Amino acid sequence: MATKHTTATLTIDGKSLDLPVLHPTIGPDVVDIRKLYAEGDVFTFDPGFTSTAACESAITYIDGDKGDLLYRGYPIEQLAEKSHYLEVCYLLMNGELPSRLQMEDFERRITRHTMLHEQIHYFFRGFRRDSHPMATMVGVVGAMSAFYHDSLDINDPSQREIAAMRMIAKLPTIAAMAYKYSLGQPFVYPRNDLDYAANFLHMCFSVPAEPYHVDPILARAMDLIFTLHADHEQNASTSTVRLAGSSGANPFACIAAGIACLWGPAHGGANQACLEMLREIGTVDRIPEYIARAKDKTDPFRLMGFGHRVYKNFDPRAKVLKKAADDVLGLLGIGDNETLKVAKELERIALEDPYFVDKKLYPNVDFYSGIILEAMGFPTAMFTPIFALSRTVGWISQWREMLNDKNQKIGRPRQLYIGAPMRDYVPVEAR
Ligand code: CMC
Repeated sequence: MATKHTTATLTIDGKSLDLPVLHPTIGPDVVDIRKLYAEGDVFTFDPGFTSTAACESAITYIDGDKGDLLYRGYPIEQLAEKSHYLEVCYLLMNGELPSRLQMEDFERRITRHTMLHEQIHYFFRGFRRDSHPMATMVGVVGAMSAFYHDSLDINDPSQREIAAMRMIAKLPTIAAMAYKYSLGQPFVYPRNDLDYAANFLHMCFSVPAEPYHVDPILARAMDLIFTLHADHEQNASTSTVRLAGSSGANPFACIAAGIACLWGPAHGGANQACLEMLREIGTVDRIPEYIARAKDKTDPFRLMGFGHRVYKNFDPRAKVLKKAADDVLGLLGIGDNETLKVAKELERIALEDPYFVDKKLYPNVDFYSGIILEAMGFPTAMFTPIFALSRTVGWISQWREMLNDKNQKIGRPRQLYIGAPMRDYVPVEAR
C-alpha cells in the first residue's frame, strides 16, 4: 500500500481542492485524483495514459530514465543470468523466490497441466491453414472458457489458482499446435520429462516419424526469451487484461483479450515487423535510406524495435538479448549472419543520429529477439505467439493482483466530448 504524507492543491475558477499525494516505494509520487470529479466537477484528460497510474501494483517496476527493470524487486539482468523461467513465474505470481520444495511443487503442477482437452484439437481444424498463429491463439485461448468450467469462478481462490496454472502450462502447447497446424504437420503432445522451454521446442520441431534431440543451447536461449518477456507492468496488453477482468470476465476471456492487444505492431507484433524490416534492408549499405525514411514525417515508416513509451534509455532486455544473439548465433556457427550485421550497424548509426538521440529512441526488446528466434528455426509469424506465451504469467499475476485489490472497480474512463450538443431530430424530408 502506498503511503500518503503530502497534498497537492488544485485551483479551478477560484475554487481550491486538496488532493492527496501518494508515495510509492520507488518512482515518482502520484496525485490521487479519485475525488476530483465528485468535489471539483472536472475530469482529467490523458490520452494514452502518459501521466496516469491506473492501479497500485507490487509486481514489476521500470525506471525508464535509468533503463532499470525489476520483477518483484530483482533486476532483470540477475534473473536472466541466474534464474530460469518457471522460477520467475513463481516469483511474479507469489512475490518471493521459491524454496527448493516450493519450486519442485510448482514445476510438478505446471507440468501436469500441459496437455489440452482432446476436443480442443478439433477447434484448430476450423481455422484456415494460413491463419496467423496469433489469430488461432486468440480464438483457442478464449475457447478454453468453454472447456474448463471448473476454473471460471473468479470469486473462488482455488479456481483462480487452477486457471492460472492451466494457462501457464497450456499456452506453449497451444502456440506449438498453432505452428504445427500452419505447417500441416501432426500435433506433438507435450513431454513431461522435459523442462518448460525444451518441451516447447520439442512440440514445435519434432515429428512422430523420427527422434528429436533438444539442443540445450537453444533450450537455454528459449528460456531466456521467456524470462525477459514475462512481465512489463501496465503496458497495453496488461492494461487490456486488467480492464477486461475488472468487469468480472473469466480468466481465459481476459487472457484472450491480452493476446489480441499484444498482436499490434506497436506492441508485441513489433518483433515480427522488426525482423521483416531487417530482412528488407538486407545489406548494411541500404541503412541510411531507412534511417532517412524513419525521420521523414511524411513517411509512416518507423524503425521497428526502436523507441518505447517508458524507456528513455536502453531497454535492459535489449542489452541481454544483444549478447544472447551473439552467443546463440556463434554457437550455431552462423555468427556472420547478415541480418545480425544489419541490426548492429543500424543500432550504431541510429544511436549517433541526432533525431534518435534527441527523442531518446533506443533499441527495445523486439530489436534482437527476432534474430535469435529466426536462428532457432522459428518463422516470423511465431515471434508474437512466443511473446504471448511468455507474457501469460505477467497477465495472470496482474489479473490476480487486481482481483485481490479492495480498491478495484470496473474500469470506466470518461471522455472529453467534442461532438454535437443536444439537438432535435430532423425528419428526412426536412434535411
Ligand atoms: N522510428 C522513428 N521515429 C520514432 C520511433 C521509431 N521507432 N518511435 C518514436 N518515434 C518518434 C515519433 O515519430 C515521435 O516524433 P515527434 O515527437 O516528432 O512526433 C516521437 O518519436 C515520440 O514517439 P511517440 O509515438 O509519440 O511515442 P510513444 O511513446 O507513443 O510510442 C512506441 C512508443 C513504442 C509505440 C514507438 O516508439 C514505436 O512505434 N516504435 C516502433 C514499434 C516498436 O518497436 N514497438 C515495440 C515496443 S517494446 C515491446 C512492446 O511494447 O511490446
